[in-house]
Amino acid sequence: MTKTTQYVAKVPDARGHIDYSSEENQVWADLYAAQRRRVDHYCAAEYLQGLGKVGLSAEQVPSCVEVSETLSALTGWKVQPVPALIGFSQFFSMLANRTFPAASFIRDRQHFDYIEEPDIFHELFGHTPLLADQRFADFSEFIGEAGMRAAPEDYAWLIRLYWFTIEFGLTRENGSYKVLGSGLASSPTELVYSVESDTPERRPFDVIDILRTPYRIDIHQPIYFVLEHCDELFAATERDLLADIATARQLGLHAPVYSPVTKSAWRSSCRTRICQTITASRVMGSFRHSPPARLLYLPRRSILSGR
Ligand SMILES: [Fe+2]
Repeated sequence: MTKTTQYVAKVPDARGHIDYSSEENQVWADLYAAQRRRVDHYCAAEYLQGLGKVGLSAEQVPSCVEVSETLSALTGWKVQPVPALIGFSQFFSMLANRTFPAASFIRDRQHFDYIEEPDIFHELFGHTPLLADQRFADFSEFIGEAGMRAAPEDYAWLIRLYWFTIEFGLTRENGSYKVLGSGLASSPTELVYSVESDTPERRPFDVIDILRTPYRIDIHQPIYFVLEHCDELFAATERDLLADIATARQLGLHAPVYSPVTKSAWRSSCRTRICQTITASRVMGSFRHSPPARLLYLPRRSILSGR
């Protein structure tokens, strides 16, 4: 399989800055304008407060250097552009060192409403608001540290906790569902779907249940986990996640509630976009059981499940 994505990572200069074209900056401005209105309505206060603290430009693609200066002062985190797909080991190591790996390109207009790859809009608009909140930043560091201690065969179990919280988590405010997750905040369609649709199942936050729940990343999520209060998530940092993984493994995965990915679907997906993850990443073992970590950053789509 060969790489089919049209996007190429942008390499920072010696100062860490990336030059974006006027059209790329305009795409950012248009995305920001469109999504800013939606997040005001659908996202949780914690996300919106973080968005305000980060102060991302509405007019042009923000500099990761400048965003890092802001985050560093707020929570000690930084954002580092990554040139290619990275494996779980590097992903966890970066989180443990309070460094968020960020794809550097920005989508073009044919993918304005939807893009399978993570782009700089997803990374900055989706992720940095929660990284501006010390409690969420510490939770991300906690996941990274757990990953550093985990065996490779535990990665796919551990990452479900990140997936169902930082990427696709919901919370509740005054009885209404609100979005926390970056994959939702940066997705025009799933942001609305996750809160308003009657289709997905919404389960109460439960670490063991989450670890046992497989997911697909090429579809709107059929299951979301809901925090009654964000303190439930922060309390999880007191847990022994490796022991939780052992418990979850003993109990076994839940049966998927989505259709299985067929070989033809796999090939179709590979033809369209995803084979980049197979050829360009440092794939950790079997893809089915341990998908490349960069798939974590996808706003909505990729190829396989967290099984
Ligand atoms: Fe992400």
